[in-house]
Amino acid sequence: MKKALILSGGQGTRLRPLTHTIAKQLVPVAGKPILGYVFDHICEAKIKKAGIIISPETGQDVKDYLGDGLPWNIKTHYIVQKKPLGLAHAVLSARSFLRDDDFVMYLGDNLLSSGVRTAIARFKKNKPDAMIFLKAVEDPRRFGVARLDSDGKVIELMEKPQNPPSNLALVGVYIFTKKIFDAIARIKPSKRGELEITDAIQELINMGYAVDSEILDGWWLDTGKKDDLLQANSIVLDEYIKNDIKGKIDVNSRTTGRVTIEPGSVVTNSNIRGPVKIGKNSTIENTFIGSFTSIGDNVTIKNSAIEHSVILDNAHIEGIERLEDSLIGRGAKVIKNAHQHTALRLMISDDSIVEV
Ligand code: TTP
Repeated sequence: MKKALILSGGQGTRLRPLTHTIAKQLVPVAGKPILGYVFDHICEAKIKKAGIIISPETGQDVKDYLGDGLPWNIKTHYIVQKKPLGLAHAVLSARSFLRDDDFVMYLGDNLLSSGVRTAIARFKKNKPDAMIFLKAVEDPRRFGVARLDSDGKVIELMEKPQNPPSNLALVGVYIFTKKIFDAIARIKPSKRGELEITDAIQELINMGYAVDSEILDGWWLDTGKKDDLLQANSIVLDEYIKNDIKGKIDVNSRTTGRVTIEPGSVVTNSNIRGPVKIGKNSTIENTFIGSFTSIGDNVTIKNSAIEHSVILDNAHIEGIERLEDSLIGRGAKVIKNAHQHTALRLMISDDSIVEV
């Protein structure tokens, strides 16, 4: 397989206000943008060319991060999708890049524990017309769900079914042949006005084509909402973080468990309980940082306790007794004013959420 199509457009409305200023796919999980993990998997599968669907709003940031793809040895090709008219519309937009080649399509906000290499090998061997990735989930009613025959061939796809035919949810990774274009040509926009990839795959089945499935054993995380993102952060920290301290920790501070601290960061009179990742040039003073917390670059945290949270670059947190399950955007300030015991003073952006 020579080509991948990475979907990195969309609006990310469910992750506002963060996505007013940052592409959803660039939000860091354990200190690294989600797209970085996607590209690691594409690289591991030895795919050398990636088409990247970008939006006019956040496309430049995605380009700035991925560049020409050299660190992954993948040649990048950017495709602007003017409006997020659906996943199948994104595939159509990439027609001149994809030509008649088989390709793996990967949603840029999905994280998988295992890569796509073994599935591609099976696809090459069995030569179906398409392959979808599935994961057994607890509440399939929230997802696109597949009904399979005894050989694992897909018989039917259903979007958020009331009576799910199985517990197998559609994961945001697919392998397609050029036949997907015939199917997309036959579908109409859904009620929400999007050309849906599930409709296109169902159309492939209706046309008599073979759609195979790959059931994932490991975790799969869609990072579309705050709590999903925090969960992704916890799982990835738990799995990948090493004990690696390049910053400075004074004698009055203590770390337990696996803690990574990048160069230039200084920890004073604080207690850090891993797994925790702290980026570059951050200052941590008189603070407790609890498990499953990721802190970006140039962050200042003083006289506070933080747990199970993601703090992005340049944020400032001071005097907060307990901050948990929180996502703090770039340059945001959360400060307790010692003179104002009862009043809250806020200056927050559109779509922010404050739970007091
Ligand atoms: P979604 O999460 O379905 O859509 P979204 O990004 O617009 O988010 P929200 O529902 O919060 O508004 O998209 C899945 C992935 O596909 C995501 O990485 C964005 C990308 N995408 C495109 O590139 N083009 C599109 O037209 C759509 C709908 C999504």
